[in-house]
Amino acid sequence: MALVNSNESFVTREKPYQYMIPTSPMPDMGMVLVTGASGYIGGRLVPVLMDRGYKIRVMVRTPSACLAKQWPGVTCSAGDALHLETLGRPLEGIHTAYYLIHSLALGPDQFDEADIKAASNFRKAAEEAGVKRIIYLGGLGDLTPGLSDHLSSRIKVARTLSNGPIPVTVLRAAVIIGSGSASYEIIHSLITRFRVLPLPSFLDSLCQPISIRDALKYLVGVLETPETIGKSYDIGGADILTYRAMMKEFAHLLNRRVAMFHFPLNHIPTYAYVASLVTPVPAPIIRSLMEGLRNNVVCRDAHIRSLVPVEPISYREALVRAMDREEQDQIRTRWADTYPPAHELAIKLREMRKLPRYTATHSIESDRSAAHLFQSICRIGGKEGWFNANWMWRLRGFLDRLLGGVGIQRGRRSAATLKIGDVIDFWRVEDLVPDRRLLLRAEMLLPGRAWLEFNIDDNGNTRTLQIKAWFHTRTIFGKLYWYTFVPFHSIVFKDLIKGIEQAVLVE
Ligand SMILES: NC(=O)c1ccc[n+]([C@@H]2O[C@H](COP(=O)([O-])OP(=O)(O)OC[C@H]3O[C@@H](n4cnc5c(N)ncnc54)[C@H](OP(=O)(O)O)[C@@H]3O)[C@@H](O)[C@H]2O)c1
Repeated sequence: MALVNSNESFVTREKPYQYMIPTSPMPDMGMVLVTGASGYIGGRLVPVLMDRGYKIRVMVRTPSACLAKQWPGVTCSAGDALHLETLGRPLEGIHTAYYLIHSLALGPDQFDEADIKAASNFRKAAEEAGVKRIIYLGGLGDLTPGLSDHLSSRIKVARTLSNGPIPVTVLRAAVIIGSGSASYEIIHSLITRFRVLPLPSFLDSLCQPISIRDALKYLVGVLETPETIGKSYDIGGADILTYRAMMKEFAHLLNRRVAMFHFPLNHIPTYAYVASLVTPVPAPIIRSLMEGLRNNVVCRDAHIRSLVPVEPISYREALVRAMDREEQDQIRTRWADTYPPAHELAIKLREMRKLPRYTATHSIESDRSAAHLFQSICRIGGKEGWFNANWMWRLRGFLDRLLGGVGIQRGRRSAATLKIGDVIDFWRVEDLVPDRRLLLRAEMLLPGRAWLEFNIDDNGNTRTLQIKAWFHTRTIFGKLYWYTFVPFHSIVFKDLIKGIEQAVLVE
């Protein structure tokens, strides 16, 4: 498998989706817009629609050349649903729009307002553009006083979108199980890291989890079933289980003995904070998801199956498929693909009016080939770590998570492939030029902006491998921060650069 691949095509043992979806493609219907295409569901929906021959446009807040390469033939348009004036272009000439926008990463205090505003703007812009149909994937649950803010917001979004002349098809799902989904990664981490798990009583609520593949089948199925226009359907998997039973099933599957017992504390922020220190998912997301665990989220009926005859798989099978994907290192999208708050519109290094003043550079000469050095660079982070000074990176990441940042736990989507936009621990790939350059932008908590750049210069017989840290700040605290860390940078970067060279695979 290629180590670096900015234009990925994943090898899969599964049959292509078009053979598994029970409806027939209607590629002549006109242009289909996928919003939230940089997210977990949207990023998986696009290739399925491509396989079925649809003309597709994706709307993202930060378009990149990589998206265009990743999905040949798909047009990419910039749009921020919180800014009505940006939505005209992405919606122009669209027949059907998938609404997969979600602001969960903003945390419990902000996502509700942002999601309603985004949906309201989108509906208005879609009306003006003459869009014929909207398809929205939301959450299960009924608007009753005990419903969590997260689930209520999903329902309010459905209502906001439907509050106009464009017919909206609403699909309502509980937890989606698939490789890279937040729920899957939280449960997986808890089960694999602990032998004893104190659990709150609200884990006895009922849930009807659905696999990501079945959710995608329904999303495409309703597009290809005109009877579903303007209607709302519940979609779920084959099983109804308590969250506790879901955890037990996962432990059973992994053949791990985990003692789970009731703990008389039901304070969600505490659980979310503790869980955020030991799982890849940050506290604000866990907290919003956990709030929803108090509610039963079970399909009210299975009407959808008479129109889109999907035979949903069991929770166990969904887990096995997700684990299989992980083992094959073929995770297509991850919850971490969406930007943490304040980073979605982050300025790129090349967009800075003046390059940052504070820099630290280390370089070595190497007789290894540029391709091999680059492959070695592209393996950093995640399970492989950061070579000798690993503990320092981990400590920095742990402190970040302790203070509510993204931390180092996010890891990587794939150990073997990397593309622009991928997360590497507390970094995100901002630029990737095979065999030449990897530029990472910091997403950890910092009193400024930071980048880490790897460059390879070919000098004929040898190559110069260079690491450069860039830091931009205007505050005294930022400057203090930079000078405090200068001695550590020196140790860490020297170790890193040596590690990268030594880790080059046999040529
Ligand atoms: N994942 C699940 O387990 C699950 C379960 C049930 C239902 N659902 C529903 O499925 C839908 C999609 O969920 P998801 O898991 O794919 O979410 P996600 O991974 O968090 O992705 C959300 C997407 O929304 C985009 N977005 C956020 N704010 C935006 C804005 N102001 N303008 C334009 N785009 C914006 C994000 O773009 P950026 O990259 O720019 O941030 C990202 O692409 C949601 O409605 C969710 O309720 C998901």
